Amino acid sequence: MSDVEQRLTQKVLASLGQCGNPRLREIMDTFVRHLHAFVREVELTEAEWHQAIRFLTATGQMCDDKRQEFILLSDVLGVSMLVDAVNNGKRPGSTESTVLGPFYVADVPKRALGDNICLDGKGEPLFVSGRVFDEQGAPIAGASLDVWQAHEDGFYDVQQPGVQPAMNLRGLFTADQDGRYWFRSVKPRHYSIPYDGPVGKLLAELGRHPNRPAHLHVIVTAAGYAPVTTHIFVDDDPYLASDAVFGVKESLIGRFVRHDDDRRAATLGLGNPFYSVDWDFHLERDPRSN
Ligand code: BEZ
Ligand code: FE
Repeated sequence: MSDVEQRLTQKVLASLGQCGNPRLREIMDTFVRHLHAFVREVELTEAEWHQAIRFLTATGQMCDDKRQEFILLSDVLGVSMLVDAVNNGKRPGSTESTVLGPFYVADVPKRALGDNICLDGKGEPLFVSGRVFDEQGAPIAGASLDVWQAHEDGFYDVQQPGVQPAMNLRGLFTADQDGRYWFRSVKPRHYSIPYDGPVGKLLAELGRHPNRPAHLHVIVTAAGYAPVTTHIFVDDDPYLASDAVFGVKESLIGRFVRHDDDRRAATLGLGNPFYSVDWDFHLERDPRSN
């Protein structure tokens, strides 16, 4: 490193000494050191620096109240999952967490156990059931399960207003006294993350596909327990090993079983053939609730 380069980095680091917020100072100190090292390591040209500024500007301009291109950028660079690992890797007795994604909607309708969250009848019928346990294996009565998934054509309801019914494939369920939950839906299919913006162009330049393996999203909460934001991945999906946002964890792959059984389908209120997945969740006590 030349003297000029070294002095510049030192000057910027010294300028942070005025900051009265120790955490912000720590973050910016490390950020500046790594950013400067990066520029030096790749010997960034001025043209490349301009290109990076144009890319970040376009990323910001793509954002509005429905589209968050910066989160997408974080997702495809593995940063979202790294933040998840740093913060949620310390709960060995809990179901593993993964990305929230941009299609979560707050305040979804409460559904009764057994309800069908597929409001337009499209897709392969699916029965989802299981239990919510604490770390000792005791059921958590009344746990909440906030569920959402993409439509079989690969879009969430919020991406297709007027095409899909509002709140299609979403619902908030409450587990019963034994921690049991069950509901009806359709088998999720893999889909592509939005790729019509700068992040999509970046993926294409990198020779990467934009696909996520099929999954159900679930946020499980219960009073006194640490909440878990997670997925149930479909075991026969071709993109399990190459998720565009690096969200797959081995422990989150469910066994989706195909049934061809008219009587059982009728009992469950599903068309035949249908799929089922049996999936338990585990929550750890939240130490802050004591
Ligand atoms: C999702 O699973 O909904 C998702 C996650 C990250 C980026 C885009 C979509
Ligand atoms: Fe998703």
